[in-house]
Amino acid sequence: MISRARTVAFQGVDAIPVSVEVMVSPGKIGMQIVGLADKAVTESRERVQSALHASGLAMPPKRITVNLAPADLPKEGSHYDLPIALGLMAALGAIPREVLAEYVVLGELSLDGSIVAVQGVLPAAVAANAAGHGLICPQACGAEAAWASADMPLIAPRSLIQLANHVRGTQLLERPQPAIRAAAAGLPDLSEVKGQDSARRALEVAAAGGHNILFRGPPGSGKSMLAQRLPSILPPLGPRELLEVSMVASIAGALTDGALSANRPFRAPHHSASMAALIGGGARARPGEVSLAHCGVLFLDELPEFSPSVIDSLRQPLETGEAAIARANSRVTYPARFQLVAAMNPCRCGMAGEPGHVCARGPRCQSDYQARLSGPFLDRIDIRIDVPAVSAGEMLAARPPEGSSQVRKRVAAAHRLQSARFEAMGLPATRVNARCSPSQIEEIARLDGDAQRLLSDAAERLRLSARAYHRVLKVARTVADLDASPGIGRGHLAEALAYRGLAEPGR
Ligand SMILES: Nc1ncnc2c1ncn2[C@@H]1O[C@H](COP(=O)(O)OP(=O)(O)OP(=O)(O)O)[C@@H](O)[C@H]1O
Ligand SMILES: [Mg+2]
Repeated sequence: MISRARTVAFQGVDAIPVSVEVMVSPGKIGMQIVGLADKAVTESRERVQSALHASGLAMPPKRITVNLAPADLPKEGSHYDLPIALGLMAALGAIPREVLAEYVVLGELSLDGSIVAVQGVLPAAVAANAAGHGLICPQACGAEAAWASADMPLIAPRSLIQLANHVRGTQLLERPQPAIRAAAAGLPDLSEVKGQDSARRALEVAAAGGHNILFRGPPGSGKSMLAQRLPSILPPLGPRELLEVSMVASIAGALTDGALSANRPFRAPHHSASMAALIGGGARARPGEVSLAHCGVLFLDELPEFSPSVIDSLRQPLETGEAAIARANSRVTYPARFQLVAAMNPCRCGMAGEPGHVCARGPRCQSDYQARLSGPFLDRIDIRIDVPAVSAGEMLAARPPEGSSQVRKRVAAAHRLQSARFEAMGLPATRVNARCSPSQIEEIARLDGDAQRLLSDAAERLRLSARAYHRVLKVARTVADLDASPGIGRGHLAEALAYRGLAEPGR
């Protein structure tokens, strides 16, 4: 007779139902796992046999066949151990078969029968809840699973024995409680950055509208400092964002102790990062840095030092908000709606354009360095701002610069205006201007007469692409939102245009 357990396979952050069928039949002694399983899954045979043995359950001297259905869906990872073991236990009569029909099961087994944490418990719990099932997962992941629903059946045992006792009713386990880690205190504060008024203003506009921003300037002027302070002025994650961010973190195995984090993600990969590290993929499908930065900030310091092909691979996620990874036997997409912050020197020696400085390698020093960034990539950066060296006067100024808490208040007010506007338009998922579609921005960016004349002049003079045109409108809308102004005036538009006028490729 066949016993069945439910589990899932992951495609991106989606959990696809998988049925684990176990049959114990007369024949050659041994255990076979079929159903497009990868190495980690086929190795599960050894772990399951040892864990059952350690839990006091003798393997029958029979032929055991495990089928993972649907057979054409690739199965990756170690979370199939527990459903296979439970299917086998049900086939041997160690636990009632009916229990397995009600639960989705995932977990890795250790040789001694304990159940080890696995990735993807949160998406699996959400999918199980949506399908009206309960969830059995490792104890270490229970807090994460509890977020899916307050009343779905949830069992989070530490070992196979605990689980068997629970389902037989001899020793009941407590339901795990959802856990959240409080937002980190002591983020770096903007009050430490002296001078740089225009760069600070640009950072505020970027934070208010979710725009991509590039800082360009000589070494030691505060570019990395400014970029690292962006999280300190962004509003905390909303409930919907919290769940989206945590789903990706769960798939990536980045949730410590099963606790979700209210911190907005801030990812700063080193410039030696490979395309797989940044975009995702590799031998086992994994979310890359762009997806780990979902709903948060991706900071690329020393931008031209990244390999040009890696930088260009960001073009697609920047445009669509998703990272699509084509693999030999499937196509996986992960969410990747991040805000890009980048910093760079104007040339390799770092001083091009500084008063009184002449580059040793002449003008090529600057043009070669900047040519590492492609035009289409730069076209996706709404705000490009020069960060000149700080003057001695500014460093010695007695008045301390404005801190993050004041700036955060203005940014939060602009965010509230945008959310209310998008909600009124029936677009609750859109939260910031940078994320709205071309037709939506044309609808909400009402230019007055002066602003309209300026825009048509500038579009011609700067030869704005259609994308640039829409992106300028979005930044202008944000500048007006920071002003709490319903319409976009000439001043708002001029500021947005100034942000794009700098660092055009080849200038
Ligand atoms: N505007 C500033 N106000 C206060 N300190 C500053 C400022 N700019 C730079 N510094 C000082 O210089 C150090 C380096 O700054 P930062 O790393 O931001 O420079 P950078 O512009 O990123 O340089 P690089 O191009 O070399 O990466 C800081 O740790 C700080 O001590
Ligand atoms: Mg730096």
